[in-house]
Amino acid sequence: MTTVLEPAGQVAGARAVRRVRLRRDASAAPSGARGLRLTAPVGALDLPDLLAGAREAVAALAAGERTEEELAALVAGRDGDAGLMRWQLTRRRLGLAGLLEHAVHLAAEDGEEPLARLRPIGRGAAEPGPTPDPTGQVKLSRFASAAPEDGALLVRSPGSPLAVELGPRAAGLLAALADWTTPAGLARLPGELPLEAVRQTLRLFAAAGLLAYGAPGQEPEADEQRFAQWAAADLAFHSRTRRPTASAGYGGTYRFGDRFGPEPASPPPFPGEKVALAVPDLAAAARADRPFTEVLEERRSVREHDDGAPLTADRLGELLYRAMRRRQTFTGGDGQELADRPYPSGGAVHELEVYPLVTNCAGLRPGLWHYATDRHELELVAEPSPATAALVANAREAALMKADPQVVLLVTARFGRVMWKYETVAYPLILKHVGALYQTLYLVGTAMDLAVCGLGGGDAGDFATASGIDFFTEGTVGELILGSRPGTLRTDVGVPRRETKR
Ligand SMILES: Cc1cc2nc3c(=O)[nH]c(=O)nc-3n(C[C@H](O)[C@H](O)[C@H](O)COP(=O)(O)O)c2cc1C
Repeated sequence: MTTVLEPAGQVAGARAVRRVRLRRDASAAPSGARGLRLTAPVGALDLPDLLAGAREAVAALAAGERTEEELAALVAGRDGDAGLMRWQLTRRRLGLAGLLEHAVHLAAEDGEEPLARLRPIGRGAAEPGPTPDPTGQVKLSRFASAAPEDGALLVRSPGSPLAVELGPRAAGLLAALADWTTPAGLARLPGELPLEAVRQTLRLFAAAGLLAYGAPGQEPEADEQRFAQWAAADLAFHSRTRRPTASAGYGGTYRFGDRFGPEPASPPPFPGEKVALAVPDLAAAARADRPFTEVLEERRSVREHDDGAPLTADRLGELLYRAMRRRQTFTGGDGQELADRPYPSGGAVHELEVYPLVTNCAGLRPGLWHYATDRHELELVAEPSPATAALVANAREAALMKADPQVVLLVTARFGRVMWKYETVAYPLILKHVGALYQTLYLVGTAMDLAVCGLGGGDAGDFATASGIDFFTEGTVGELILGSRPGTLRTDVGVPRRETKR
């Protein structure tokens, strides 16, 4: 196999050199008398019976980048021709197990510099396919994204277990690949990479799923509904969290465990005014409530409030107590303080907080309040301001209401509670918790004869301004409107239903 390729290009004497190495997060350890065990975060591969030269070749791959010729020479020197054939099989197993990184270097008289590296970042084979034709049409997939990682520019495609790390000399290819071009066209760009270096780099792009399907005028990514409907960021998010083979970091990984401590179950109290809420009598509520099935069947979104008899602080308190108060805390095996509330939460982390934004609630002055789930009290976070007014207006518009909602329940996440433990599933978990809380508030609200309506969007920037809370530490991830329910409901919004009276 030849890896030193044509000495073309306009950099004097520059040529492309292909090198391989063991993926950087893998290690090789002796196993038995003649074997090696290769371990990576995505799994392990046992090579139980290796000849001496093959063992040395694997050790060389673990130590750094080698050309295939260097490895073959090493093996042939120790194990002979028969050993070389066995090595080819071992070498193939390493690639199929996703244990190899493939690099393309630009070699000139004064040294080498890496152009591109194919890096396994998940679980799956890392063997590049054929080298693209010099005149074939190529374009970057519209789902590809680039970001710095470990000091290099990493280009990824959603769902692929492989990514390409680009060196500075090859970074210009990205911009040129924004539209259809050819390897030959790319080799003519300022920077003058040898055609073979461009082709080898594109070969790595193709292996990582970074190239668009189709041809000019025929682009499934833009034309076919199943692709066209996906925004690149959404597909990347979906793939990152739902395809554990494509990204390391699934489940509880504690990647910050040695840098930051876990956050306590309770946020620090707000310094301002506090209002102790009455503790509802749950036994009395259980006796008075309609049967569960009746509540479930009668649940509906109500987008109008009875401002003649507005919600009261006691009723608001009862809803929050029944839906989300802290029932107990306990310590997890990982040392994080966990909590128990009426609705479920992955890992019992309970990162959600609720901030009632009050416009019209008897017994509570208007402003932004925080519900302390552990103390069952409201704490004043901010007086009414242009930012709170924007939050109210936003909720009112989202629900197509004719008047301001009596209360907007702003649901925030304390991100660190979840992200300290979880990695790729952290943010989706938060959104699932929001769903669990929505339904619990809907059902308790229905049982209490309140008007509840979940909203699909809000402005976390406005919340940060209104509350003074750091956007990155805690922010809104959901909102509901809440009020007293009128006797007769409008019929011009929501799901068409015959019965509008209670
Ligand atoms: C996550 C979520 C987001 C919603 N967003 C809005 C919204 O922005 N505006 C609105 O008026 N209703 C919103 N709703 C209420 C839905 O429109 C309502 O649930 C749907 O029409 C079904 O009606 P029902 O709740 O009465 O069964 C939302 C509901 C949920 C669960």
